[in-house]
Amino acid sequence: MLIDVVTIFPEVFAQPLQVGVLGRARDEGLLIIRVHDLRDFTRDRHSVTDEPPYGGGPGMVMKPEPFFRAVEFCRGREMPGTRPRVILLTPQGRSLTHHRSEEMALEEHLILLCPRYEGIDERVRQWVATHELSIGDYVISGGEMAALVVIDAVGRLVPGVLGHPQSAKTDSFASPQLEGPQYTRPARYRGLGVPDVLRSGDHGAILKWHQEQARVRTRMRRPQLLSSRGEWQYDRERFDDD
Ligand code: ADE
Repeated sequence: MLIDVVTIFPEVFAQPLQVGVLGRARDEGLLIIRVHDLRDFTRDRHSVTDEPPYGGGPGMVMKPEPFFRAVEFCRGREMPGTRPRVILLTPQGRSLTHHRSEEMALEEHLILLCPRYEGIDERVRQWVATHELSIGDYVISGGEMAALVVIDAVGRLVPGVLGHPQSAKTDSFASPQLEGPQYTRPARYRGLGVPDVLRSGDHGAILKWHQEQARVRTRMRRPQLLSSRGEWQYDRERFDDD
């Protein structure tokens, strides 16, 4: 998968995308991530990317031209026959969910636009972006952190990226419930023990214990994920706001 990111702070992306699962996926060529400095698509001497809003008001608004040019540039590199998803990160967008991440993981090419300041010229929203995404009902200082969250959530679902396909399946939002508690060595630490069943070697009992713990945790923490009969109901209708 090819992911292009357009930002005025390209340096934000360097470190997080070098490590762990995503770093490895990039090394192996499963993920190609290119980060573009929006200022490279300005044409004035001072590389201006924002201006005061027409009609007055507080703050600054990001100019349309650099975004139009940047996306044209990214599209120019696209593989024949593919149409990239051009995603504007904004608290006004649809919520990022596991389901949407899975959908995006099937795309060949994503272009992520990261606005800053008070906002972005509406023409970018209307004519350049094909999708708008929010990472939650809170406001952060710009789209960069949101883009990193999207890259992580989507990148790990790209086929071949996770060493063990099973790990994606048992992740909390991919499996029928939240994951229960886990323990590792030592068996006793500062007087704190590990449930006996986990050390019993009885695989049937261990599986049952994990299932029961997952059920309890889901009921305690996210009861809205379960139906009245205790069945999992993570589905598009309830959690994807379209
Ligand atoms: N930019 C600012 N806040 C955001 C959010 N919650 N999601 C996506 N982009 C944002």
